[in-house]
Amino acid sequence: MSILGTIFNGSEHTAALAKYKLVFLGDQSVGKTSIISRFMYDKFDNNYQATIGIDFLSKTMYLEDRTVRLQLWDTAGQERFRSLIPSYIRDSSVAVIVYDVASRQSFLNTSNWIEEVRAERGSDVIIMLVGNKTDLVDKRQVSVEEGEAKARDINVMFIEASAKAGFNIKALFRKIAAALPGMETLSSTKHEDMVDVNLKSSNSNGSQSQQESGGCAC
Ligand code: GTP
Ligand code: MG
Repeated sequence: MSILGTIFNGSEHTAALAKYKLVFLGDQSVGKTSIISRFMYDKFDNNYQATIGIDFLSKTMYLEDRTVRLQLWDTAGQERFRSLIPSYIRDSSVAVIVYDVASRQSFLNTSNWIEEVRAERGSDVIIMLVGNKTDLVDKRQVSVEEGEAKARDINVMFIEASAKAGFNIKALFRKIAAALPGMETLSSTKHEDMVDVNLKSSNSNGSQSQQESGGCAC
């Protein structure tokens, strides 16, 4: 094959890479960012650094039969950022709703998150309910059976995990990947044919800029 052909085929392949948007939702401090950090970098930090606004990360997953590009939107659980979230839900084909198995309130509140996702997307969305922090064995307030029952009742996927222990994090993403529709390719690339951006929300007034940087492909 000529060099030109190789280049052409190479770029064609890149353009056809299936892209999927995942939005991470859930109360403050349940471990959304920690799950993403474990998945992306295999790292975990015990110190809590609240997400400010929205963070965007992107990762290619090589599956047995195909390669997919996951675009991860990490939202802030803090109330003051709630108004930012609906537009990200609207734009995502997957919603990952996280609770802390050591916080019954965060589990109860997943109903609100699920309602919000259904209101924006109807049934045209994959929902994964995640019970995080299974390593907190002595502090557990929500059993795995309760989590499973809730997921069954409302017809969403379910997994328990621990970002700290690295338990079930890869499995979580593999499970989501397996549920992705096969051919959501070029039509879903639209304006987000963007370079890898890894926004770290260290500034306290960064909500606006996070949103703008994350959403802009220029
Ligand atoms: P917001 O950005 O405020 O919405 O929080 P978040 O949901 O992103 O939570 P984050 O990942 O920042 O984690 C909150 C705290 O819980 C941090 O101190 C983490 O170290 C801790 N944490 C996260 N996952 C786990 C886990 O699996 N086990 C334990 N024991 N602690 C965890
Ligand atoms: Mg966070």
